[in-house]
Amino acid sequence: MSDAILVEELVKCFDDFTAVDGVSFRVRQGEVFGFLGPNGAGKTTTINILCTLLKPTRGLVLVNGFDVVKQAGQVRSSIGLVFQDPSLDVQLTALENLEFHAYLYNVPAAQTRARAEQLMQMLGLWNRRNDLVRNFSGGMRRRLEVARGLLHRPLILFLDEPTVGLDPQTRRYIWDYILQQRREGLTIFLTTHYLDEAEYCDRVAIIDRGRIIALDTPGSLKASVGGDVILVRTADNRRAEDELHRLLGIAAREQDGALRLNVPRADEFIPRLCRLSTPLVSVSVSHPTLDDVFIKLTGRAIREEEGGGEEMRQMARLWGGRRR
Ligand SMILES: Nc1ncnc2c1ncn2[C@@H]1O[C@H](COP(=O)(O)OP(=O)(O)O)[C@@H](O)[C@H]1O
Ligand SMILES: [Mg+2]
Repeated sequence: MSDAILVEELVKCFDDFTAVDGVSFRVRQGEVFGFLGPNGAGKTTTINILCTLLKPTRGLVLVNGFDVVKQAGQVRSSIGLVFQDPSLDVQLTALENLEFHAYLYNVPAAQTRARAEQLMQMLGLWNRRNDLVRNFSGGMRRRLEVARGLLHRPLILFLDEPTVGLDPQTRRYIWDYILQQRREGLTIFLTTHYLDEAEYCDRVAIIDRGRIIALDTPGSLKASVGGDVILVRTADNRRAEDELHRLLGIAAREQDGALRLNVPRADEFIPRLCRLSTPLVSVSVSHPTLDDVFIKLTGRAIREEEGGGEEMRQMARLWGGRRR
């Protein structure tokens, strides 16, 4: 099966500033692929090039096998877009927005109504189909944009920061819908600076200053930080420590009456832990986050760059001050 997206050595310069600096990756058909990075990393620039809204300075980009420069029309009709900045016509009703889109994309008129109804039912908008979009909340508008992005049955759906600024319930709702679409074989490419959103992806490219600094499944990326931490309370820590060392080759450290273990993957290790003859009293696990991956690679946190990260920045300044 050919790749849904193929990007080779993509570069985008704005005058003498390089926003995308030699990025290469492939997205498989049916995959949810995420670009995770702080503000200014080059996510929107990249997705805009993939969607033919911006021309690359250099490099090769194929979307559904079509070249974004030479076959922009074919690329456009085979993809759907949901962007962070709203692009609905607020003077029209929800249904009229979808009908207009269907017209632009040559969806046969006979099919438009049924597809619009199905999508609006799924996204909880059907009862509001005849209301002006002007009166819609931010969450409803975003859901309508998702419906619109899917109306012409694209092979790939592009989402730029799809749930930024939305309440947790609406974010969850949109994500449930996106993941359902994946089960039906849709390929999804999204950008985000939300760690939880990146966790939903099959694979994540971590992008910083125009470059991909890591690319893998969320699980493998987190494992690369150095694994999980397990805290075990046992009936006899001495005996457990000895068994861990002898049978499993793991050096445990005592901490606050519990044994602390570093393992590559807790989910795979805990079944082995349960086979020790020393009775276990409790087991707790903490996992590294994708932010830990970003910190390990860059020395900075993704969330520092978010709005509301002022506290973090203050802390960073304090720490810097103390070192001097
Ligand atoms: N049209 C433009 N002209 C000049 N600089 C731009 C333009 N668009 C984006 N940039 C710059 O490119 C960098 C990447 O921007 P962008 O792709 O929007 O990042 P992200 O979406 O990851 O926040 C930023 O430093 C931004 O200021
Ligand atoms: Mg952006």
